[in-house]
Amino acid sequence: MKSAKPYITEHKERFLDELIELLKIPSISADSAYKGDVIKTAEVVKASLEKVGCEHVEICETPGYPIVYGEKIIDKSLPTILVYGHYDVQPPDPLDLWDSPPFEPVIKTTDLHPEGAIFARGSCDDKGQMYMHVKAMEYMMATNQLPCNVKFMIEGEEEIGSESLGWFVGQNQEKLANDVILISDTGMIAPDVPSITTGLRGLSYVEVEVTGPNRDLHSGLYGGAVANPINVLSKMIASLHDENNHITIPGFYDTVEELSLEERAKMAEAPFSKENYKKALDIDDVYGEEGYTTNERNSIRPTLDVNGIWGGYIGEGAKTVIASRAFAKISMRLVPDQDWEKITDLFAKHFESIAPKGVRVKVTPHHGGQACVTPIDSLGYRAAEKAYEATFGKTPIPQRSGGSIPIVALFEKELKSKTILMGFGLDSDAIHSPNEHFGIWNYLKGIETIPQFYHYFTEISK
Ligand code: BES
Ligand code: MN
Ligand code: MN
Repeated sequence: MKSAKPYITEHKERFLDELIELLKIPSISADSAYKGDVIKTAEVVKASLEKVGCEHVEICETPGYPIVYGEKIIDKSLPTILVYGHYDVQPPDPLDLWDSPPFEPVIKTTDLHPEGAIFARGSCDDKGQMYMHVKAMEYMMATNQLPCNVKFMIEGEEEIGSESLGWFVGQNQEKLANDVILISDTGMIAPDVPSITTGLRGLSYVEVEVTGPNRDLHSGLYGGAVANPINVLSKMIASLHDENNHITIPGFYDTVEELSLEERAKMAEAPFSKENYKKALDIDDVYGEEGYTTNERNSIRPTLDVNGIWGGYIGEGAKTVIASRAFAKISMRLVPDQDWEKITDLFAKHFESIAPKGVRVKVTPHHGGQACVTPIDSLGYRAAEKAYEATFGKTPIPQRSGGSIPIVALFEKELKSKTILMGFGLDSDAIHSPNEHFGIWNYLKGIETIPQFYHYFTEISK
């Protein structure tokens, strides 16, 4: 496979313009007010696949948002790569913390992106990274170099749990049959430290509700004499970690995969500066589970975090009130061998059991998914390593990530194939946050590296 660099240089402006157009559509899957935009984005993705030479491109209807499918089968005896990505994005709020509107992409330089970065919701997660694959396909087709078969499957519900995709995969095992799954929806350590993600955490997401008196009460007349649901909820949440920051839910750690000291030593070799980490986040110290390093805490250890908490009066000024109800949204990041449904049950049982008299507690499970680890001795991993060596001049470092793509574990189960997570984002790209961005250099490097993966995977599979 010839280097895609000259082709990328020639078409760079168009590659950027096309992505910018895609980023202008607010495909927020969590908010039904944007339903039309989510569907419109699927149409744009479909057209982009057709334009680069995919065949049988279709919008596959599901009980939820559609899945865009397209393929190019050149020879049934050659390997098939299944590319997965998502065209939906996270809600952009809080809007006032954005320096420019989330769906009006702008290019600006930053310390880590001296060549410029596109600022927009979805630029890195995952429209920008997904679109690298479309442009890599364009390169291979336009220069007659596609070395194997390819199938694209781009969904619109990743940010809300991929429920429809789970259903779709179950229904279409033959259509989706492949030799390796290729995903760019993760990150890498640094532009000069390429890495391949070899593990993702699982997730259990729940909502809790604590109800006290049957109506909001005057906090003077009733204060001190009835349980205040917000006080109680705060106390219950605080009790979910002990003084060492271990999670106190009975049975929570029972099946947690323990890494050997050797594996942990290997992990610790990856470049990491605690000072830079603290500086980037403007914190005076890190925080977390006793006995583990920062990199371990955010990848191989399970966590429990409140993602949102509300109740009572939050308007201007003061109102003296004891609210009738208090709420919180809680996520638990899970590691291999923890079953997310079991953990959800353990959480619910425990949370109900610690409620004091005077309140009622309700736990509502949302979505979840299993953690995954990908082997580093597979054909796909070796091909990915060679691809990075070709375009970065360096061997990539295997790295376990703390994020979740729950559908990956399901792919393995249903489609019986391994996934390669070739991410090109940086942790500082602010995915899910205000001012999300994606480096232009990263975007183009991805487009350059992906065709090399196709080449080496085909070669190694022979
Ligand atoms: N692309 C992310 C996951 C990710 C990001 C993994 C960076 C590794 C590094 C994905 O879109 C995502 O945000 N997943 C959700 C889970 C989903 C069920 C809502 C997450 O991790 O919170
Ligand atoms: Mn994503
Ligand atoms: Mn995401």
